[in-house]
Amino acid sequence: MLTIRTEQTSDYAKVYQVITEAFKTTEYSDGNEADLVEKLRKSSAFIPQLSLVALVDNRIVGHILFTKAYVGKTTVLALAPLSVLPQYQNQGIGQALIGEGHKIAQKLGYKYVVVLGHAQYYPKVGYISASKYGINPPFKISDENFMAICFDKTICQLNGTIKYDDAFNIC
Ligand SMILES: CC(C)(COP(=O)(O)OP(=O)(O)OC[C@H]1O[C@@H](n2cnc3c(N)ncnc32)[C@H](O)[C@@H]1OP(=O)(O)O)[C@@H](O)C(=O)NCCC(=O)NCCS
Repeated sequence: MLTIRTEQTSDYAKVYQVITEAFKTTEYSDGNEADLVEKLRKSSAFIPQLSLVALVDNRIVGHILFTKAYVGKTTVLALAPLSVLPQYQNQGIGQALIGEGHKIAQKLGYKYVVVLGHAQYYPKVGYISASKYGINPPFKISDENFMAICFDKTICQLNGTIKYDDAFNIC
């Protein structure tokens, strides 16, 4: 059975392994995703309620992190990274982690989530090109890979370039 809960400090070592394992075979990996999470946990961008783990039979098989980023004066969330162990992929776990994260994000009052990722994956859970919401990437990237979701059904319009936490190492 799949369970999703907030990450605990006692999960950190296992989460490190899950992220490393998940990204091992991906073409876009820089191999630093697990270290990025370690840095983000220590940063002011970290929101403990939005670091989630997925468990199957009490084993951690997936992880997702949403951290604070900024577009002008608006605080948005950056979804990164999302990891599911290879042998558990394509079973809906990634989408379940995103869905649970979205619920918590809305309860906490966040309106936008931005992601840099697979153009075929995130639209399944409501993401569209971030440019449609007036959110620009901090570097040159294909419009279809830089995506966002807005939870407000009335007004979704920003105007600016996203500023990620320094842990992302984006100048
Ligand atoms: C990407 C990832 C998180 C997806 O999680 P998952 O639990 O396997 O995905 P889900 O089961 O929720 O969704 C499955 C659907 O997504 C699609 N999908 C899975 N991985 C995909 C990818 N890398 N690119 C595009 N589509 C993908 C599947 O084809 C499937 O489509 P369908 O519903 O039309 O059949 C997981 O494959 C993973 O950890 N990959 C390695 C790390 C990574 O790339 N992270 C994301 C960085 S942007």
